[in-house]
Amino acid sequence: MILLDGKAASAALRGELRPRAEEFLKRYGRRMTLAVVLVGDDPASKIYVENKRRACEEVGIRSLNYFLPAETSEGEVCSLLDTLAEDSRVHGILLQLPLPAPLEAERILAHIPTEKDVDGFSAENIGNLIQRLPCLAPCTPSGIMELLKRNGICVRGKRAVVVGRSNIVGRPMAALLLNADATVTVCHSKTVNLREECVRADLLIAAVGKARLIGADMVKEGAVVVDVGMNRVNGKLCGDVDFEAVREKASYLTPVPGGVGPMTIAMLMKNTCDAAERSVRNELFRKIQPISARI
Ligand code: GUN
Repeated sequence: MILLDGKAASAALRGELRPRAEEFLKRYGRRMTLAVVLVGDDPASKIYVENKRRACEEVGIRSLNYFLPAETSEGEVCSLLDTLAEDSRVHGILLQLPLPAPLEAERILAHIPTEKDVDGFSAENIGNLIQRLPCLAPCTPSGIMELLKRNGICVRGKRAVVVGRSNIVGRPMAALLLNADATVTVCHSKTVNLREECVRADLLIAAVGKARLIGADMVKEGAVVVDVGMNRVNGKLCGDVDFEAVREKASYLTPVPGGVGPMTIAMLMKNTCDAAERSVRNELFRKIQPISARI
């Protein structure tokens, strides 16, 4: 079994982004900028936000962090997002999820404009993804595609099984795999025989949030197995895959931690670079347009 090392792939990708951030600063005299908004004090979210801040620093992206108390009203969060949306110096906006009750993500996320939606959660980005049009794609599934690519794993024609149908991972994962010509099955809590579906997979993606749900009996000999799970069991981080059992059957397997997690953050950096570069291209286009109209 070969470990799919997300730490190494993420470091390589971040290294490739650094010159893009430098070039942007040199050309336009300002830094690429990512704004991160955290509402409340969920301990896991705080760690994620800190990791994102550190990744920005390493790549050379300016990060603006907004920490709002859990009691912040929907109107106040939306008003901050509107201000960031208006600010041409901000290229990417991320609202850390989950939001504390009673805040509802769906309505609030709609205040992040598509071109700054570096999480790739907006209806327009998801719609474009499904139609294979240019978009900012959600970071965890696109990070998985990048990790596979960097390890020379081609998904074309492969039978891919995605376990989990969340908006953040399962659904966009299925779309990216389909766009890459895999034959895709999505399993979920109502799937009749999960084991039977999983054992047919050449590529198995586990994204359900249930510790060690995927045992060796659910994995085909030689399958590629990607574990998106981040579960706490007795204080220890543990994936959706029973690592010790599945390592005997899989050809490639992601560790938890050090697999998918670092790729998510690296792809967020990539989306921010893409959004920043696109914003200046659009700015230039808007400036040029009146001239070409005169001709
Ligand atoms: N919470 C867990 N994963 C994510 C993510 O990818 N983006 C945001 N914004 N929040 C998350």
